[in-house]
Amino acid sequence: MLFITNKHLKPGMILAKDIVLYGNSNFNTLLLTKGQVLNNTFIKRILYHNIEGAYIESEAFADIKVDSYIDDKLKAESLTQIKDVYYNFQMSSGKINASTIKQMSSIVNDLITELLYKDDLTYNVIDFKNFDSYTFQHCLNVAILSISTGISLGLSESKLHDLGISGLFHDIGKMSVPVEILNKPGKLTEEEYEIIKAHPINAAKQLQNLVSSDVLRAIESHHEKLDGTGYPYGRTANNINYYAKILAVCDVYDALTSDRPYRKSAFPNEVIEYIMGCADTHFDYEILQHFIKIIVAYPIGTFVKLSNGKLAVVVKNYPENIIRPLIRIVNSDGTVGEDVDLLYDKRYMNVTIVDMGYDYEGSGLAGVLKSSYDMKIKL
Ligand SMILES: [Fe+2]
Repeated sequence: MLFITNKHLKPGMILAKDIVLYGNSNFNTLLLTKGQVLNNTFIKRILYHNIEGAYIESEAFADIKVDSYIDDKLKAESLTQIKDVYYNFQMSSGKINASTIKQMSSIVNDLITELLYKDDLTYNVIDFKNFDSYTFQHCLNVAILSISTGISLGLSESKLHDLGISGLFHDIGKMSVPVEILNKPGKLTEEEYEIIKAHPINAAKQLQNLVSSDVLRAIESHHEKLDGTGYPYGRTANNINYYAKILAVCDVYDALTSDRPYRKSAFPNEVIEYIMGCADTHFDYEILQHFIKIIVAYPIGTFVKLSNGKLAVVVKNYPENIIRPLIRIVNSDGTVGEDVDLLYDKRYMNVTIVDMGYDYEGSGLAGVLKSSYDMKIKL
């Protein structure tokens, strides 16, 4: 299968994966099912819901399989429950009770069980893109990323549990921030910024006596930076809670790879470059070393442009070097070329990936995608 961005979807292409909506009003709705042949109405529906793209069947890339990072049912059930908890928090002016903690604790246990025994712990950003900017969606993503990073770091199950709870609740304080401030497209005033900056402390206050002191410190400090330039206290490296340091990386990664009312999402490779550039100033270097093992710069099935001018599709990623995947060359006449292992192939030592090649129009790729049209004709 191939990941095709929405503006390049064409009638006749066949969906290789279900498209599920996880928005606020259309919660957990199956928009289109795997095997569906796209027509103009379906493409308009995808564009209407702001969905970035879809996995499409292609004979030349039939060996590329993209599994969901966590079970779709678990994700839908978790989001439904987290959404309720977040909106109840908002309606009850910030009250949380012990049964809510129990409910969230059970979600975290399910996530740990799912992630702990996964063969391939590489987070596919396409699975978790937020096309709406709801805080509860972001919190689930941060919990999943944090648990995955914690597994790579070799943390015990009880520590993973604390980390997951911290992730699920880390931004609940934002539910008390007026939405006009939260989603303001322009620059925040000093006063507005102060309101935003209060969200970690407000959340920790409401959770007092309900969660462990480590979880409270993690939530309170998830915007602190090693060099002391973070908030709310401007704490420096040794004074920042360890879970908070993990949350900080995952929080920024998910926020920047998701659309916000005031900006479009960045590609994962761009975000990784930004995050690595903040090693030792904002983020803990050792944590980053593990974080980059569980994410990918170039998701499988997506197009990349090479420094030699060629176009290719990502076939496989290596956790030990996320910027040098196994790729399949797409020739300029639209035929599919050889597989090239950027990590080991000496012929390609001086060739780098220069861009996510989402814009393949005019590259001859129509020929590659012809297979999906042919499949439609066979139908
Ligand atoms: Fe936050």
